[in-house]
Amino acid sequence: MNGAWLITGGCGFIGSNLAAHILKNHGGTRIRVLDNLNQGSVGAMVSTIRFNCEMGDPLANVSVSVGDIKDYGVCAESVEGVDTVVHLAANTGVAQSVDDPRADMETNVIGTLNMLEASRQAGVKKFIFASSGAPVGEVEPPIHEDKAPKPVSPYGASKLAGEAYCQAYWRSYGLPTISLRFGNVYGPGCKHKDSVVARFLRRALAGKPLEIYGDGDQTRDFIYIDDIVRAISLAGQPGLGGEVFQIATHRETTVNEVAQSIRRLVEKRTGRKVGIFFGKKRRGDVKRNYSDISKAKRMLGFDPRFSMSQGLEKTLEYYLREGPVSEGRLKAV
Ligand SMILES: NC(=O)c1ccc[n+]([C@@H]2O[C@H](COP(=O)([O-])OP(=O)(O)OC[C@H]3O[C@@H](n4cnc5c(N)ncnc54)[C@H](O)[C@@H]3O)[C@@H](O)[C@H]2O)c1
Repeated sequence: MNGAWLITGGCGFIGSNLAAHILKNHGGTRIRVLDNLNQGSVGAMVSTIRFNCEMGDPLANVSVSVGDIKDYGVCAESVEGVDTVVHLAANTGVAQSVDDPRADMETNVIGTLNMLEASRQAGVKKFIFASSGAPVGEVEPPIHEDKAPKPVSPYGASKLAGEAYCQAYWRSYGLPTISLRFGNVYGPGCKHKDSVVARFLRRALAGKPLEIYGDGDQTRDFIYIDDIVRAISLAGQPGLGGEVFQIATHRETTVNEVAQSIRRLVEKRTGRKVGIFFGKKRRGDVKRNYSDISKAKRMLGFDPRFSMSQGLEKTLEYYLREGPVSEGRLKAV
């Protein structure tokens, strides 16, 4: 890996860990970040990079532009001189998309089209798009790349549109695009997120009971962040275009199991009791979701390395080092 990488949404959870991974493993690569700071922040990005790499001033090696992917001019400027685009900036919330499907579409569809078009015009060599299991929606798991998509939420529909445009830009213009469908990602840097692990750890450490939406038997494929950034880096290799990959672990875990693991871990580490209660099921949530990752294994050489317990321990370590986050500061994602 070398040249220049643009990470849209690079101040967020996955983007800041990706920046850290590149700085740690590929010293000569230049990194530019484009983010509107709607969810992420430069401070959080710097602290996640430092947590991963123990480096002094990450901003000496990473340049940050503040701007919105809905603005084509901003996208065109940000791709100048860039070899690889990792497009992470998005509305990331299922619940948010149910509340405001138009806002979700504007960021996830128009924003993605803007980034693709700017990348084509600038002669970018690789475009990696962050998708998820949501485009496939409510189907009999394991999800794999050949299942007909049936999105349940507007978020699933907008990510599916992003995948479709990536495919079309490869077929019509030869822009080498790769769509990566991430499982449910957790790890250092996820403190501002409202995903299951992030929320449970936040509440457990604040002495609040864990709220499970519905009966807790719903399943997800939880994947540790270091495995995700390795998959992105593998997708950046030259040669592939027009492909979609499931990037997860192939392990099906219930939300109840995650709650119990976090309860045990936090009680052991802090000596504090952690309660659990059941709330209302959320609209747009699918019942079962885990992935068949054989295509990513075969074509990218991807293999997840972290077990859930290893990943949760590292994530707890990060929460304890970073200190508490007040729930009031968080936007729902
Ligand atoms: N975290 C997960 O479990 C998960 C799972 C599947 C897919 N994904 C996808 O991965 C990508 C990154 O997710 P994340 O967890 O790091 O989320 P995040 O919210 O931490 O990061 C997203 C970043 O994008 C920025 N952003 C949002 N809208 C923008 C806009 N219009 N213009 C410029 N910047 C904008 C935000 O400020 C934020 O820093 C997203 O596309 C998300 O849909 C994440």
